[in-house]
Order: sequence, then C-alpha cells, then structure tokens
Amino acid sequence: MQAVRFHRYGPPAVLACEEVPPPPVSPNEIRVAVHAAGVNPVDWRYRRGELKWMDWASFPRTPGADIAGTVHAVGDEVTAFHVGDRVVAMLDILSGAGYAEQVCVPADQAAHAPDSISMVEAAGLPLVTLTAIQALRDKAQLAAGEHVLINGASGGVGTMAVQWAAAQGATVTGVCSPRNAALVQSLGADTVIDYTSEDPLAASDAFDVVFDIVGNQSLAEAKAALRRNGRFVTTAITPRRFWEAFASRFMPGPTGYVVVVQPRGSDLASVMQMVDAGTLTPVVDRTYPLCDAKAAHQYSETKRAQGKIVLITEQEDVP
Ligand SMILES: NC(=O)c1ccc[n+]([C@@H]2O[C@H](COP(=O)([O-])OP(=O)(O)OC[C@H]3O[C@@H](n4cnc5c(N)ncnc54)[C@H](OP(=O)(O)O)[C@@H]3O)[C@@H](O)[C@H]2O)c1
Repeated sequence: MQAVRFHRYGPPAVLACEEVPPPPVSPNEIRVAVHAAGVNPVDWRYRRGELKWMDWASFPRTPGADIAGTVHAVGDEVTAFHVGDRVVAMLDILSGAGYAEQVCVPADQAAHAPDSISMVEAAGLPLVTLTAIQALRDKAQLAAGEHVLINGASGGVGTMAVQWAAAQGATVTGVCSPRNAALVQSLGADTVIDYTSEDPLAASDAFDVVFDIVGNQSLAEAKAALRRNGRFVTTAITPRRFWEAFASRFMPGPTGYVVVVQPRGSDLASVMQMVDAGTLTPVVDRTYPLCDAKAAHQYSETKRAQGKIVLITEQEDVP
C-alpha cells in the first residue's frame, strides 16, 4: 500500500509517498481502507520536529490523525464494527499514521459514518470537532444563553466551534478576517469581529467564554472582556498557558484552561449524529491526492485555510 512518510524532520519536501506493507491488526483494533485523511496543523508541527520533546519513536514516520474509510479487517475482540462498515476515526496525534491507504485504529477511537456525508467531509471532522467539543463542553462548560467569543472562527476548529456553540443555544461572536465574515455568519455566529480593524477583546464584561484557537490571546489579556465567572480556553499548548490556567484556580475572577484533544469514539459518535441531523455541517476548503501531501502541508502552513484540507486516496470513489 502507499503511505506518506518522512525520514527526518524538515520542510514539506521531506514528505514522500512510499510503498509499505499494510499494518497487522491487533485484537482491539479495526484495519481501515482509508478513502480520505484530514490534514491538521499538528501534522506539520510534527513533521518540522516541533513536537520531538514528546516523541520517542524512530524514523520513518507517517503523519495523520484523521481518517475516513471502510473497515477492511476486524480484531478478535471487536464487536461494534464489521468488514465493509463506513467509519471515521481520530488516531493518536504522533503515532496515528493516517496518511496511508490502510491504517489500524483502536475500535474505541472510531465511529460509524452516516451515509449522508462523503468520505472527504467525514475525514475533516474528527480532530477539530472533538477539540471544539472538549474545549467548550468539558473545559468551559458553555451553557445555553451564555455569550462565547471564538477567536479563529474560520479555520478547522473554529468552523466547528461556531456551529456547536450555536446549537447549544449560546450567543456566538466569531473573530475572522473580512473575507471569511459571510462564512462564519452562515455557520451561526450572531456577530462577527474583523480582527484586522478591531480588537476582539476591547469590550468589557461582555463574554462568559473566550475560546482562543489562534494562540494569540491570554487569560490576562481576555480578563477585562470576560464576566466575573468567565472562562478562557486556549488550544495553544505552551508551558506559559498551562501555568496561567493553573494559577487562575487560586485567584478570583475568570478561570483559564488549555484543551488537549483526546481521541474518543463516543464523542465522535455524537458528532456523527449531529452531522446526520444537519446540526453540524462539514466545511471543506481543498482536497489533494494523498501523494500531494507536500502541497497540502504548504497550504496549511499559510494558516489561511477556510475549514478543512483533506487528502484523497485512490479508494475515495469506493462506495
Ligand atoms: N490543543 C489541541 O488539542 C489542539 C487541537 C486542534 C488544534 N490545535 C491548534 O489550534 C490552532 C488552530 O487549528 P485549526 O485546525 O483551526 O487551524 P487552521 O484551520 O489552519 O486555521 C486557519 C484559520 O485561522 C484563521 N486565522 C489566522 N490568523 C488569525 C487571527 N489572527 N485571528 C483570527 N483568525 C485567524 C484564518 O482566517 P483568516 O485567513 O481570515 O485570517 C484561517 O481561517 C493550530 O495552532 C492547532 O495546532 C490544538
């Protein structure tokens, strides 16, 4: 089978399409014939070597945390999936190896994909939607009637966070550049702030939750814009943000959180139900053939994606 691999950290050019044997399936896993694989910023951070402090595996590596496809083989202990099922999964961020024609996934990290979405749409959903839900539901405990500011509303995580928050009955303010204002509004934002001409955190006492997906805000900067029991959640995994979040528990006023997305099949199953019901709509910006992963990374690294970037294997047209 074909897999995208890199033999050293470096620029997009280190990615190469290579012929490798299919992975053996463990008792608790399913092997999936991958039709489409989502691209996430963590994939190129991994390729650049920015995550080597948490990564002890040897080269070569295959990136890729998001896949959609059909079940090709089932481990002895797996009862929830059968050969031929359409599935979607979030793999482990470092060892996932989703940029490949076949991949093994622990069954508890997968969910059935409804017939109402394409494999390309499904592959763009897992990591970003689980991030949005685990940030807004589990960390911020966003409630109906509350007001949330979503910074980075037009990207992969943001397009899902806006829709999920609106579906919970929250009032949503999305932050994006002018070219994305119509998109963010169409996803359910009540108000849009253009970050190129306005400071999103200028209002005082305005928000119950600030969700920073860009990584250019801090709890200290968001404090005045947040209400007294406000919550600040960031996707930026840095020692400084962890410290700020920890320290906020011992101080009056808003609390800080860092979200670190976890693969979780049960969350993914509820995402699929919401998609099937039309409550969440996948937003796909561009697709590339699997072996053009280099070009997909170059585009993702511009940080201008509108929704998701997805790689397609030659199996994509299999029903
Ligand atoms: N902690 C975790 O578990 C976790 C999970 C998922 C993602 N992340 C991190 O979260 C970040 C976002 O991920 P993503 O998948 O959403 O990325 P993405 O899809 O690449 O985001 C691209 C979007 O960011 C917007 N953007 C860029 N600069 C902006 C700014 N200053 N203000 C507002 N919007 C801005 C762009 O809109 P414009 O073109 O309009 O500027 C574009 O639509 C990445 O750094 C990723 O590594 C962390």
